[in-house]
Amino acid sequence: MIISSPGDYREAARRKLPPFLFHYIDGGAYAEQTLRRNVEDWQAIALRQRVLQDMTSLSLETRLFDETLRLPIILAPVGLTGMYARRGEVQAAKAAASRGVPFTLSTVSVCSIEEVAPAIDRPMWFQLYVLRDRGFMKNALERARAAGVKTLVFTVDMPTPGARYRDAHSGMSGPHAEIRRMIQAMMHPAWAWDVGVRGTPHDLGNVSAYLGKPTGLADYIGWLGQNFDPSISWKDLQWIRDFWDGPMIIKGVLDAQDARDAVSFGADGIVVSNHGGRQLDGVLSSARALPAIAEAVKGDIRILIDSGVRNGLDVVRAIALGADAVMLGRAFVYALAAGGEAGVANLLDLFEKEMRVAMTLTGAKSVAGISQDMLAL
Ligand code: FNR
Repeated sequence: MIISSPGDYREAARRKLPPFLFHYIDGGAYAEQTLRRNVEDWQAIALRQRVLQDMTSLSLETRLFDETLRLPIILAPVGLTGMYARRGEVQAAKAAASRGVPFTLSTVSVCSIEEVAPAIDRPMWFQLYVLRDRGFMKNALERARAAGVKTLVFTVDMPTPGARYRDAHSGMSGPHAEIRRMIQAMMHPAWAWDVGVRGTPHDLGNVSAYLGKPTGLADYIGWLGQNFDPSISWKDLQWIRDFWDGPMIIKGVLDAQDARDAVSFGADGIVVSNHGGRQLDGVLSSARALPAIAEAVKGDIRILIDSGVRNGLDVVRAIALGADAVMLGRAFVYALAAGGEAGVANLLDLFEKEMRVAMTLTGAKSVAGISQDMLAL
């Protein structure tokens, strides 16, 4: 299949992956309205074309938390990435490092902190969920620190998992799930050989290391389900703030009041996010939530955003609306599933090219120069 745009990777991933995995990535919560709006609301924002602005020098570099990013892009934490490509977290992290952007390892990754961190020559970011088992959280933080992680992404929009109805239809969960997954794997032999056979072990690397025993895919939903903590509030986060001396980013903020609370709490950054439409269906798209949040906290805290970003133009739109940088979820996962490390590296190159065109034709010479002025609101 010919890949000429970032969007092509979705179809390439659909062909390569067993359906239970493709739909796990592609799907969202309930009727998937927020999932759709996430994508559509970026597209609906019109850019303001400017011409004859002498755009010979153009810089996409940005500084964030004492790091230089070649593009204002970070790979978002995505669970089970090692199921979409062989040792997928390592491949994605290498691609990100080769393009000068950070990779964020999920708590529920296949490859452990200790497998991914030494494979790249820049510090990776680490994402932590709030879990009942505080011993696990402390252990994960200590291991992340030992592995050279500086930036911690703390995901707070999963006090309870959202219902993903697609998973029951696809065989990810629901009746006869195990046998259905097995049949699907057999019908996708390229994936079965590359990832299913050569990509083992398929456990949750960070969890297994803590529990001292392998935790497989079958145990995944059970372990997480038991461990999400709906009692969590800002005061429960204080010990992590005290423990973690590097930048701490709160991921999953969609409301201006919560953004202000993140500033009062002493967070260094927020990720404006609805978890890619995977949690509460019907909430605002991140594109629509961003302006009020930027108005409330811009300048007091670094603003990252994800959900629905599918191309370089969306990145420019997000920064114009007030974000400092953008996280990619599905966009990079499709590329990883379809083309491994080279696929993700190519995706980032495509994003860069698209950003260059958008900046040239809106008259933005640098990331800091991208402003609301570039939008035809
Ligand atoms: C996620 N996301 C996520 N977030 C997180 O903090 N920890 C995690 O383990 C996961 N796992 C995960 C799995 C899959 C398959 C997806 C698609 C997403 C959410 C992710 O970090 C990000 O917020 C969204 O993916 C952003 O939306 P887009 O870019 O996918 O539309």
